[in-house]
Amino acid sequence: MRILLTGAAGFIGGHIRSRAVERGHEVVALDAYLPQAHGSGGAHDSTIRRLDLRHDPLDEVLEGIDAVCHQAAMVGNGVDAQDLPDYAEHNDAGTARLLAAMSRAGVRDLVLASSMVVYGDGRYTCPADGDVPPATRGVEDLASGRYDPRCPVCAGEIAWRAISEDTPFLPRTSYAASKVAQEHYAGAWCTLDDARAIALRYHNVYGPGMPADTPYAGVAAIFRSAIARGEAPKVFEDGLQVRDFVHVSDVARVNVLAIEQVAMHPAGLTPYNVASGHPFTIGEMAATLSAAAGGTPPEVTGDYRRFDVRHVVASPKAASEGLGFTAEIAPEVGLAQLATDPLRPR
Ligand code: UD1
Repeated sequence: MRILLTGAAGFIGGHIRSRAVERGHEVVALDAYLPQAHGSGGAHDSTIRRLDLRHDPLDEVLEGIDAVCHQAAMVGNGVDAQDLPDYAEHNDAGTARLLAAMSRAGVRDLVLASSMVVYGDGRYTCPADGDVPPATRGVEDLASGRYDPRCPVCAGEIAWRAISEDTPFLPRTSYAASKVAQEHYAGAWCTLDDARAIALRYHNVYGPGMPADTPYAGVAAIFRSAIARGEAPKVFEDGLQVRDFVHVSDVARVNVLAIEQVAMHPAGLTPYNVASGHPFTIGEMAATLSAAAGGTPPEVTGDYRRFDVRHVVASPKAASEGLGFTAEIAPEVGLAQLATDPLRPR
């Protein structure tokens, strides 16, 4: 297939490109080289065309394309409210322009990088009130070291559970809001053009080539960078918050499976969680990395961030049934390797 790949110079995009080429596909690679991700003066790969979805012409690059794999995005949680226009312009206006150009070019198949952040705090079970979204964590609870959220109805103890793709959207950050909007725009394009989109809702992606620590980095890059500096990873809250760490080679594989199968999907947007299926606490993750690096053990600080969700874990079942995808790299193996995996310098 001839695939248009946006975000090809990024961490995940680079792995998708290699995997797609290995599978015999032809890849037209694009990237805007955002300074937040790539620095402002660095060398650029001459095989990747520099193109900004917000304003550059798109018709020519879409000629003869069978499917688009859209990974380009401004990532991270966002630093402050001044980031809002950038998230909206890069992620949402950029995607809307791409979809309009796909429509003109007659391209009907899209694979979209989405995220588990669309679910926000996820879903919990309350012994008294059943299936509930958790109440927003109060400052008093957080400051007194009570990190688990309460039931929104009775304020009692609740237990997290693995979420499925029909869980309602509850975005909590600028980035999460932009990912929800991207899915909605892609859904609208599907209706207008009788087209097909697969939204891959990534959990915490890690692996070789991760960008070194930036204000937009996730926890795996932050801890890996701390270890490289000879410092202890600083674990927030009590370290018992749960995530699902999925290796970038698995993420690349599921993207290529989705590209190859999107045309067999029904018209409309089909979402899939992309997860390892092995929940891991942030404390365990930090300890695994430190031990593998022979470095300083993690420090549990009790610090907290208001926007953090406490636990978020998804069911990987739908991707297994719909795409034949099961993650191959267990987090205890991949996270130990991350201790020595090379990072991408800025
Ligand atoms: C992360 C990404 C998000 C992505 C999602 C799914 C970032 C900033 N967040 O969300 O964009 O869509 O995965 O792939 O890239 N923590 C520490 N110490 C630190 C930093 C964080 O203990 O120095 C803890 C946080 O309190 C949190 C957990 O690690 O509990 C995960 O944090 P983080 O990776 O920032 O955000 P996610 O919500 O997992």
